[in-house]
Amino acid sequence: MADDQTVATAAGASNTGKSRLTFADVEVGATTAKAGKRAGNPYLPQIATVVDIIQETPNIKSLRVRFDDPGVQAGLSFEPGQVGQLGIFGVGESTFAINSSTSQASDHLQFSVMKAGEVTSALHELHIGDKVGVRAPMGCGFPVDAWKGKSILYIMGGIGSAALRATINYTLEHRSDYDNISILYGARTPLDLTYKYNIVEWEARDDIDAVITVDREFPGWDGRVGFVPAVLEEMNPNPANTIAITCGPPIMIKFVLQSLQKLQFGDDQIYTTLEKRMKCGIGICGRCNIGPRYVCVDGPVFSMAELRELPDEL
Ligand SMILES: Cc1cc2nc3c(=O)[nH]c(=O)nc-3n(C[C@H](O)[C@H](O)[C@H](O)COP(=O)(O)OP(=O)(O)OC[C@H]3O[C@@H](n4cnc5c(N)ncnc54)[C@H](O)[C@@H]3O)c2cc1C
Ligand code: FES
Repeated sequence: MADDQTVATAAGASNTGKSRLTFADVEVGATTAKAGKRAGNPYLPQIATVVDIIQETPNIKSLRVRFDDPGVQAGLSFEPGQVGQLGIFGVGESTFAINSSTSQASDHLQFSVMKAGEVTSALHELHIGDKVGVRAPMGCGFPVDAWKGKSILYIMGGIGSAALRATINYTLEHRSDYDNISILYGARTPLDLTYKYNIVEWEARDDIDAVITVDREFPGWDGRVGFVPAVLEEMNPNPANTIAITCGPPIMIKFVLQSLQKLQFGDDQIYTTLEKRMKCGIGICGRCNIGPRYVCVDGPVFSMAELRELPDEL
């Protein structure tokens, strides 16, 4: 099968008018890949080398990887909010948000990995120079073009920051396309805040509002203390012409959604990205469905309006 004859993508899924692809779709599927999607065997990872590692928090490391085939890296593009599968041979692969800037896609991809189980623990053992398998990009990103001219409010907790970082970077790199930009980020303790180097930048800029909070008092922390939903209500953002994007632990998202409703945000103004467990990542195995939708190809980004139409399985 020639490489350019086969692609299993969200684009392929929509071409066939259904969320879930079949093996037949993969065999004869769309010949034109969505921007940045790889043609060829969709299960086959590309080999990449770990070129940098950042210890973000005691249990989260960011791995920066570069494809060994320079042509693959140079031709790569992705939408902010898309994800990838990062794998270690002989151990397995797991899904992670691509959190580097889209503008740096031709140089590297960055994933932040919180230690949870077997695959993530093995990823934490990697060193610079080690090889990984990468299948990326996957899924649909945030509709950043449709949001031009609007105010953007990011509300994130813990490792949820990884899912929004590429989008934050995108809107900051295209700052004049957006009205107000606000970032509310919370973690259990200051030690659990990821991307501290970005936080310093955000707080220094006068063209964005950055509010950083931790759940409880902590020695040496003189910043804000309080849970994200409560701080959001104190901030009292104006919903007019504003998009709110949230990602974090399920309990945080639940209360943030309630707060946004109290603040009069409509369902079509609220977006989130789901961490429904995936396997194939390409709409074949049926592991990630919520009702008729497949998180891997229809998501992981969904508006609240879209989620309301799905069964309550989250
Ligand atoms: C779209 C998407 C984006 C993600 N982005 C990131 C990211 O940027 N950074 C990050 O650290 N993690 C992210 N995750 C979660 C990550 O994929 C899992 O933590 C990882 O697969 C765990 O693999 P493991 O083998 O180490 O753990 P396992 O041994 O498989 O599981 C360890 C524990 O984690 C739980 N778990 C595993 N996967 C998930 C999941 N998807 N959701 C909730 N609980 C889970 C298991 O139930 C178990 O309790 C994302 C998941 C999805 C679906
Ligand atoms: S259908 Fe396989 S992970 Fe979505």
